Amino acid sequence: MINPTIVSGKEVSNKVKEEIALEVEQLKKNGGKVPHLAAILVGNDGASTTYVNAKVKACEKVGFESTLVQLDSTISQELLLEEVEKLNNNKVIDGYIVQLPLPKHIDEQKVTEAIDPSKDVDGFHPVSLGKMLLDIPSFLPATPYGITEMLKHYNIPTEGKHCVVIGRSHIVGSPMSVLMARNSYPGNCTVTLTHSRTQNLKEITLQADILIVAIGKPEFVTADMVKEGATVIDVGIHRIEDNTKKSGYRLLGDVNFAEVAPKCAFISPVPGGVGPMTIASLLKNTLLAVKLK
Ligand code: GUN
Repeated sequence: MINPTIVSGKEVSNKVKEEIALEVEQLKKNGGKVPHLAAILVGNDGASTTYVNAKVKACEKVGFESTLVQLDSTISQELLLEEVEKLNNNKVIDGYIVQLPLPKHIDEQKVTEAIDPSKDVDGFHPVSLGKMLLDIPSFLPATPYGITEMLKHYNIPTEGKHCVVIGRSHIVGSPMSVLMARNSYPGNCTVTLTHSRTQNLKEITLQADILIVAIGKPEFVTADMVKEGATVIDVGIHRIEDNTKKSGYRLLGDVNFAEVAPKCAFISPVPGGVGPMTIASLLKNTLLAVKLK
């Protein structure tokens, strides 16, 4: 049993936000442009609304301008694409995101591809993802980017280590595997990207020095799947109904924290782990959009 270091995204994100706020102050002093982030929110899904509101609040905290474009869930794809075009052409907006998931009648890929790559602060556009693959400075997808910043902050060794990623989504697992294999720190890992069709998953996760879990299943990773001394990063976030809580729910990750933590050298909790880092990275990308202009 080990006493793990808790990888606190809350703490690291606060530090990142303080640094951004200082830069914004300098920008303002020097008569530069105040970074302006916009978000398109379609419909009123509870989790998406919470996330977008948190993003807007984070903008206020660091001194950015923000704009929230709220659209009805019945909006047609054509009209949504017009809204995207408006933001592409809006000179005061430096970067923007379209909160996912979108209603079923809308093609998410088509909307993502309509975003001007120079404003793609989520890093989901094919141009951004292609640049990431080629090591060309660009907008890195916020969640994987946030995880690399956490590893850096805690000086977690990565070179030559075996990093196992569970989940191959376009926005987390796949880009995460690319970043961990890059020739830089954090990086230089031997990476195994696992997914729903992987056979003998436990045999593979038991070899992981760094285990990054983005499978979208509550408490999927159990103690028997983790090597002693591993670093475990939990990307999952699930609202589980709980009437003993004031909110009516409690949050769980993709990792069974209580049983896995005693085996780890480092572990990120849920909440307070990866989540806050995603927002901090979005702010960093927005600042980068201003700088790249
Ligand atoms: N839905 C879940 N995570 C994200 C994210 O990072 N960006 C956007 N746009 N939508 C999301």
